[in-house]
Amino acid sequence: MEERMMSTEELPAEQLLEQSIRPQLLDDYVGQEKVKTSLRVFVEAAMQRQESLDHVLLYGPPGLGKTTMAAVIANEMNVNMKTTSGPAIERPGDLAAVVSSLEPGDVLFIDEIHRLHRSVEEVLYPAMEDFCLDIMIGKGPTARSVRLDLPPFTLIGATTRAGQLSAPLRDRFGVPLRLEYYDIEALQQIVERSAKLFDVPIERNAAYEVARRSRGTPRIANRLLRRVRDFAEVRGDGTITFTIAKEALELLQVDSYGLDDIDHRLLRHMVKHFGGGPVGLDTLAATIGEEAITIEDVYEPYLLQIGFLQRTPRGRVVTMTAYDHLGMPYPEK
Ligand SMILES: Nc1ncnc2c1ncn2[C@@H]1O[C@H](COP(=O)(O)OP(=O)(O)O)[C@@H](O)[C@H]1O
Ligand SMILES: [Mg+2]
Repeated sequence: MEERMMSTEELPAEQLLEQSIRPQLLDDYVGQEKVKTSLRVFVEAAMQRQESLDHVLLYGPPGLGKTTMAAVIANEMNVNMKTTSGPAIERPGDLAAVVSSLEPGDVLFIDEIHRLHRSVEEVLYPAMEDFCLDIMIGKGPTARSVRLDLPPFTLIGATTRAGQLSAPLRDRFGVPLRLEYYDIEALQQIVERSAKLFDVPIERNAAYEVARRSRGTPRIANRLLRRVRDFAEVRGDGTITFTIAKEALELLQVDSYGLDDIDHRLLRHMVKHFGGGPVGLDTLAATIGEEAITIEDVYEPYLLQIGFLQRTPRGRVVTMTAYDHLGMPYPEK
């Protein structure tokens, strides 16, 4: 599972590679036009007033560019960014340590903000609202609360599960922004841009082919591009032609919709054992030996997005489109 080719999670080896291809400014950031349009307005207004930008919440599935966008915002505002994550801030003191090192206007990026501790969340509220921090010093009867004044800063929170954020926290973000899956044209641009940065020639229709199979997700597009590039170097002269791209993607067992072996097995299992559904999440989980939450977070979102699965009150259903794609006869019901 952890090495799943089509995983939306960042693989360990990718961190370094990503640094060279991450867009730095809004103009390099492909797609997400609605998000970029509102950000341009907010950034410009804040710069004109010489104020810090309002707190921003970025939410959406993994690999769509939340971390990238946080860095882009800091660059556009011409400020530094400090990065941490929900689970990394264990106690209010940890938060105090990070925020007290901020310069006026800086960005504090908290990834996976839905995983913040309750106790930390509570000290975060006044920090977001009034730029001050109340922390307890000492223990027992001698404990006392001290108030620290903070410079104005911008909190950027990122989450894949906005629904899990507590309402009071969600309400304190002036700018909530939802990132969407990318269409094939945008992904093709991303593939072409990354290929240029890697200094690899790529044919237009080869870039399209990679984009089409990338599940709407830039992280996957860049990963497939790297695999296809390896193939082009070994099998060809280094140029990624359409033929080479197609051959490589077939070898990687990524089909024309970007589905891999795991997706195929899941769909076939539902057809074979449940007549295509409806089947409840827990039953499905038990019979394929996975956690229900893994199905919900990892396997299902893209299949729902492309209309291969449907959620009904009675459970999950395999759609006619999916039967067609699998080459299986749709049962008369
Ligand atoms: N809009 C975009 N344009 C170009 N590349 C992008 C874009 N969004 C994401 N990427 C690339 O996709 C990869 C994953 O993005 P990341 O910001 O880490 O996603 P997330 O934080 O949402 O999981 C990065 O390598 C980044 O370079
Ligand atoms: Mg991220």
